Parts: sequence; C-alpha cells; structure tokens
Amino acid sequence: MEEEVVLTFNIKKGDGTMGFEKAWLNYYKSDNLAMRDYFTVVTYNKDDSIVKSAVLELTTAAKELFSIDIESSLCDMKSDVDKTRKGIHFQIGDNKDLENEGYRISLADEMLLIEAYTSNGILYGTFDLIRSTILGADVHSFNRTIFPKNPLRMLNHWDNMDGSIERGYSGNSFFFEHGEVIVNERTKAYARLVSSVGINAVVINNVNVRGTATNLITNRYIDKLKQIGEIFASYGIKLYLSLNFAAPMELGGLTSADPLDEEVRLWWKKEVQLLFKEIPSFGGFLVKADSEGRPGPFTYQRTHAEGANMLAEAVKPYGGLIIWRCFVYNCKQDWRDMKTDRARASFDNFQSLDGDFAENVILQVKNGPMDFQVREPISPLFGGMKKTNLMLEVQIAQEYTGQQRHVCYLIPMFKEILKFRTYCKEENDTVFDIVSGNTYGNKNAGMAAVANTGNDDNWTGHDLAAANLYGYGRLSFDPDLTSEEIAKEWITLTFGMKEHVIDYISKILMMSWPAYEKYTSPLGIGWMVNPSHHYGPNVDGYEYDRWGTYHKADHTAIGVDRTKNGTGYTTQYHQPNQELYGTPETCPEELLLFFHRIPYTYQLKTGKTLIQHIYDSHFEGVEDVEEMVKLWEELKGKLEEVPYHRVLHRLQEQLEHSKEWRDVICSYFYRKTAIGDKKGRELY
Ligand code: GCU
Repeated sequence: MEEEVVLTFNIKKGDGTMGFEKAWLNYYKSDNLAMRDYFTVVTYNKDDSIVKSAVLELTTAAKELFSIDIESSLCDMKSDVDKTRKGIHFQIGDNKDLENEGYRISLADEMLLIEAYTSNGILYGTFDLIRSTILGADVHSFNRTIFPKNPLRMLNHWDNMDGSIERGYSGNSFFFEHGEVIVNERTKAYARLVSSVGINAVVINNVNVRGTATNLITNRYIDKLKQIGEIFASYGIKLYLSLNFAAPMELGGLTSADPLDEEVRLWWKKEVQLLFKEIPSFGGFLVKADSEGRPGPFTYQRTHAEGANMLAEAVKPYGGLIIWRCFVYNCKQDWRDMKTDRARASFDNFQSLDGDFAENVILQVKNGPMDFQVREPISPLFGGMKKTNLMLEVQIAQEYTGQQRHVCYLIPMFKEILKFRTYCKEENDTVFDIVSGNTYGNKNAGMAAVANTGNDDNWTGHDLAAANLYGYGRLSFDPDLTSEEIAKEWITLTFGMKEHVIDYISKILMMSWPAYEKYTSPLGIGWMVNPSHHYGPNVDGYEYDRWGTYHKADHTAIGVDRTKNGTGYTTQYHQPNQELYGTPETCPEELLLFFHRIPYTYQLKTGKTLIQHIYDSHFEGVEDVEEMVKLWEELKGKLEEVPYHRVLHRLQEQLEHSKEWRDVICSYFYRKTAIGDKKGRELY
C-alpha cells in the first residue's frame, strides 16, 4: 500500500529531536501589529495542492508570528469576499499578465490581495508576504508586481544511493540511504524551505550516475519517487533525475548506447515513459557525459548534440527537458605541455555545435572554465553560443571555498558572474541576460546550483553556509537584489531582529569571500588544494600527472600565459574582453595569474611587487578571519546557545586553518624565490 503523504510542520527547533531545524523559516514572535490583523482570515478561489500549501504556510505563520488560528475558506472575490474586513485573499487565474509564475500583492479596500495566474505565483506571493511581515513591512507598501527573472531556478544534489554525498559537507543524504529512496518529514521540510526562496526544479541524484543509481529510471524505485514528486509538486517544484548515458547497456542489455542506433533510441523512448506517466511533475534529466570517466556519445564517434538530441526526442512528448552539462574535459590527457589548457576544453568541445541542439535541450555551463575556484574568469561559452539554450551552473557546496568549515558567502561572487558583459551583442549581453532568456528570447534557460545540504540538523553543516542556499534561491529569483540585502534578510529571518546581530553577521558574511581568497589563492592562481578531497593547502597539489602543477611556478615566475601567444584561451572571448585579458597591464589584477605568467618582481598597480602582494595578501586574510571571530564573539548571549557555539567552533577552526594556508604558501614562495618579506615577517 502506498503511504499517504500528509503535510504537517510541527517540527521542533534546535533540540535535534526531529533531526532538523527550521533554518530561515524559524518564525519568531512578530511585533508588526499593523500586519497582525490581516493574518486572521485567508480566502482563495482555487483549491489545488500548491494553493493548499500556500494556505498552510499562512496558517503556520499566523500561529508562530501572532499566535492566531487563521480561518480559511474557498470563495471567489467577485461574489463573496468581504473586502471591508481585514484578511488575505488569493485570486488565481484571472490575470494572464501574471503568467510565468508572477504575482501581485496589493491592498483592495481593507483586504490584502495576492493575485497570480499560476498557483506557483500564489505560493511565491505568500512567502513574500510572510517574509516582508517579519522584516517589518508596512501594509501600505504592498503594491508590487513581481516575476521571477530566471525560468529555471534549480538545485543539483550530488547525492549517492548509499547515502553519501559527493562533495557533501553537512552529513549524509536525506534523499537516499542504503540503496533506497527516503521519503519522510524532512522531504517536506526541504520542499518548503527551498520553495520559500523560489526554487522550482530539483535534481536529487549525483551527476556521476553509477551502480544502483542507474536503476532510478526503472520501476524499482517508482513508488518512492512518486511520493517525492507529489511533495515537490505541492511546493511548485519539478523533480529531475541524473541519468547514466550507458543505461541501455547496463539496464537494457543492449550491446551499445550509440545515440544514432535505432534500438537504443527506442529503448530510451520506452524507458522514460514510466517516470513521466507516474510522476506528473517530472521535469526531465541532467546528463554528465564524456567527462571524468562518464560514458557518452564519444565512444561511438557521435557529438554531444547527437547524444543530447536523442534523449530530447524521447522526453519531448511529455514536455520534458534534457539538461546537458558542458563540464567536459579529458582527465586522462597529458596536461604538462604549456599549450595544452584545461580552461579551453568546454568551449573547444561545444562551441562548434552551436545551433545543433534541440529546443528542449539546455546546456548547463559552469561559471568558470575550470572548476568552481574561489576566482575564475567567466566561461566564454556565455556569449559564445548564440543559438543554443544555456543555463549557468554555480556551486554552493563549498568544494573549493572552505568546505563549509570556513565561512564563505558566495552571493557577491554570483552577482559578479551575472553582471559580466560578454559583448555577444551591443546590449542585453550579460551572463544574466543570456541565462534568463533576455538576450535571445529562449524559454528554456535559468540557473542551477550544486546544493550544500545534508542531513545535519542545521541542513548545511556550518550555520552561516545556509546564507548561500537562501541567497542562491533569492538571487536566481531576483538578480537585482544586492548581496547585502540578501544577507540582511537571511540573518533577520534566521536569528530574529536583534541589536548588532544583523550588522555583525552581515559584516562577517560580506568580508568572507575576499578573506578566503586572500589567505588561499589570490590573483586567480586557484587550486593549491590537496588532490582528491580538495581541502587544505597543498601548493603543488595536482591531479592529472605526477609532475605538473596548476600554477606552473618556478623560481622566477608564476601563472599561465593564456593569451594568443600562450594557450590561446583568451581568443575564446569576444572583443573587447579578448584584449582586456590579453596584456598584464589591462587584465583585472584579481585574474592576473590566471591569464599571464608573471615574474615575482613585477610591479602591481599598488606599487607592490607580485611576491610582496602574495605575502601581504595571506597575512591580511588571516587578520580578516581574526576580525570575524571577534565580531562573532560579540554576539554571545544574543543568539541561541547551540548555533552560537556551533559557529564559534567553526570560526576558530577557520582561523587555525587560515594560518596554515598563510604559512605553507608564504614559506613555499620564500624558499622558491629567496626573496624576503619587505615587512620583515618571519616566513620560515
Ligand atoms: C568537480 C568535482 C567532482 C564532480 C565534478 C563535476 O570536478 O570535484 O566531484 O563530479 O566537478 O562537476 O561533474
């Protein structure tokens, strides 16, 4: 018998008895009395599972914020809503201008009206209303029409079926355990959490699909997947799965997975039917092919377009999407030659296929050409492909940015990525324009983030890492929000509106990305991490052969010449970016060593030599962390004990580890160059 999916949210906070906390849905009593009277009645003109969730959200908020048991009923505004009485009304379906998940909140006489064309719009309007109430909004400020700016606002979980998470830093999976799919209270709490910030699509399994995970597309797990699909659907979220390109062989017993083989094509068509038929909210598949050992069309001398289009044809009858990743490079290649450049790989693999992909294929492109480093240039595929649907992929799992043991608020980085001008057109040419569909009018577009959640009580291991999950959702919904606005919202919703709390935590968040960059790998050097687990300093750490390094440092110079005289990577950009990156004088200094090979005695714009900058930066980074620890300690007594100590402990660890980074890197370069520190600090 199927389990009934009942949505209740009587989750206890902080004491760990239910195994998870409420994060930013942790409503404290509100003294916004002007809003209180509206949280007494809610009426709605349509009754589907999403609208029910919206009503449930208002019920929860009314109770927790104002101790009110809200009344709710189905009725139409045109006939039987009493507008002279304070309350909230949902009007769904009348206003076609609000399609694409938009909503409008306004005052209609005494009543607060949320209008939308879709039920998702109502849900987002409801979360906006609750959030604004907590943030102290005045009821007369509600005259706003809002649309999410990106069509797809997606999370990619890299969860494995044994319960582990690839690059997971906050416990195990809450989707899988011991080879089975899990559905429980946490599934619902998760849907609610991410939907509250506008997420509308979730891939629950790792892009590296191996072993039993290949079977997720079969009827073996269908009952549980149906339940997840139903829970997600009631929060406006589509369920996606990652698939294994070799499945026709591994599951179907075929001798090939050649995308042009009729038998293979037929196999996929039959296989995908089940998921779409059984799960009405099933969205499609994410595919990693021909990269880091995953199977793909190259085995059959077929292109990525041929591979993706074969799958696209299979899912098309159901309105499904194929999201095909561009993180493709040959990890077995010999990278020692100065001209062979991994940064070139995505563009070299995909750009010539522009225009060859089906309408329901989206190429998902990592923000930079390498792999989620603390600083990278923007992938030249943005702007390089004009006739292909593109999505941006960022990583909130902090693989290379402190693994959720260090605080590193990534929203300022994401904002820089989104506003980067590609010059693919005279206007509307930023990464945001491209992935939101503004540039070329694509409907299938958006953003994806590699998720940072796990089954830890606080979802993200480091409490402050939840700001990245919250922030990613809010930013993908509304990229015009500033990093500070997002930080302040998150802090207030999570910790309450308390003196100093907002100021100090937002200061910590805002200094954290620059600090991490300073004490790890400034000037675009990147990496310097231990191979495989990618944590901690290892200056020469390198994954592809025994002798290489990413930074190519010798005793006179460091960095890689990626100009037209070097690897030629800069030529993948449009002008004027090509020129900008083309000389050390014009190159933005934060990327200097990514694009150029520079002698240690080179003078930077500050007048410092390169080597002195490397020393100073590492010392400054540690000082920044010292300041972060002090700021946090000032909050003792103002926050709940458990999260206070949890964060303090991690900040102290961060301080120790930042010192290790500083010492290891400074002494490496001192020994390599024999150039001492102008400030006379001991470099060992
Ligand atoms: C990185 C990461 C891998 C991951 C890969 C990907 O290389 O270290 O764990 O599989 O990215 O994005 O596919």
